[in-house]
Amino acid sequence: MGGLMMKKSVFTAVSAIAFAAASVAYAGPSAEVLHWWTSGGEAKSVAVLQKEFADNGGTWTDMPVAGGGGDAAMTALRARVLAGNAPTAVQLKGPAIQEWYEEGVLADISAVAEAEGWEGVLPASIAGHMKCDGKWCAAPVNVHRVDWIWANADVLAANGIAMPTTWDEFNAAADKLAAAGITPLAHGGQAWQDATVFEAVALGILGPEGFHKAFVELDMDTLKSDKMVAVFDQMRKMRGYVDANFSGRDWNLATAMVMNGEAAFQIMGDWAKGEFLAAGKVPGKDFLCASVPGDGFLYNVDSFAMFKVDGDDKQAGQGLLAKLIVGQNFQKVFNLNKGSIPARTDVAMDEFDSCAHLSAKDMSESSANGSLLPSYAHGMALRGAQSGAITDVVTAHFNSDMSSADAVKMLADAVANSL
Ligand code: GAL
Repeated sequence: MGGLMMKKSVFTAVSAIAFAAASVAYAGPSAEVLHWWTSGGEAKSVAVLQKEFADNGGTWTDMPVAGGGGDAAMTALRARVLAGNAPTAVQLKGPAIQEWYEEGVLADISAVAEAEGWEGVLPASIAGHMKCDGKWCAAPVNVHRVDWIWANADVLAANGIAMPTTWDEFNAAADKLAAAGITPLAHGGQAWQDATVFEAVALGILGPEGFHKAFVELDMDTLKSDKMVAVFDQMRKMRGYVDANFSGRDWNLATAMVMNGEAAFQIMGDWAKGEFLAAGKVPGKDFLCASVPGDGFLYNVDSFAMFKVDGDDKQAGQGLLAKLIVGQNFQKVFNLNKGSIPARTDVAMDEFDSCAHLSAKDMSESSANGSLLPSYAHGMALRGAQSGAITDVVTAHFNSDMSSADAVKMLADAVANSL
């Protein structure tokens, strides 16, 4: 009896395998896509890619991991790769692309890049981030600018405030707003948001050259300089401009505070514009955008890397995704929703708004005068260990009464220990 049952179950198993083998025959491009685009504007943007993928015969399996800045998504990625089950395509950017490449887990997408002529349509600075040992290992989606101030137009007008062009003006405006009972700065107390405000302040106070020395070269003299003390002094002021409930708040909820007039300003990359637009707000009318006081441009290029996976369907999915991502139409429609500008240089900008035009103009000017800089807070400038060491200090200072001098000392030590 036992023998019979065993025979039967072996037979069932064998036929199941035969069935499975038949069904693994090529069924078309497929991709499981890990990303952290879950806010209103972000979800609308990623839906553009999902639709194009489906329209071209692809089957998309969504793997969204909520959490602005992508820290949680990167933790999820590590767990999947360690388990030997990497997602097909992953939102990944900056030096983290190289770090994963060095682990031997990224697929080479050079064949698509060459067939599609990426070299001819991407600026060299962006292309450089997408190559590993000379081969293409990621596909760029956009250029986000980080050093923006967003404001509620009515709140500024009602309080007789113009968009600030110096940090002193910003502080004067913030003091006036606070006296009128309005939260000057909408902020969410999460480490990456603290780092976002910090790098915008640092760019303004250190200047583009000082920023490069501090956060690209990790130059100790700059990290320990009096100007860096001044950066932390301004951060202490910023801490005084946020509301009592800032701790842990998501960035898009901070954007909503500006939208509904509860707060006047937010310092955030232009994914915040994606939120304003998704809520039907109009730039120049409902909300204002300006670069933070000072020169320079902090760029944050989103991109996707393909992980080494088995199976013709998934590999075809990777090729199709890479092709679509850098495609002209996708780069236009996606970025209209996302708040960023296209990575490709040949996309017509006439449907883009005034903030996007300012971004494109400032990007080309800063590229020409050497002040186009990678965002440290958004993983474009440094490897994880170094950027993490800096952010830990920024957050520790923001959430305590640490003096600026102590913060600078801690910063220099943390960076030295991370090297
Ligand atoms: C950035 C990313 C943006 C946006 C933002 C908030 O790091 O580059 O695309 O998603 O995080 O989640």
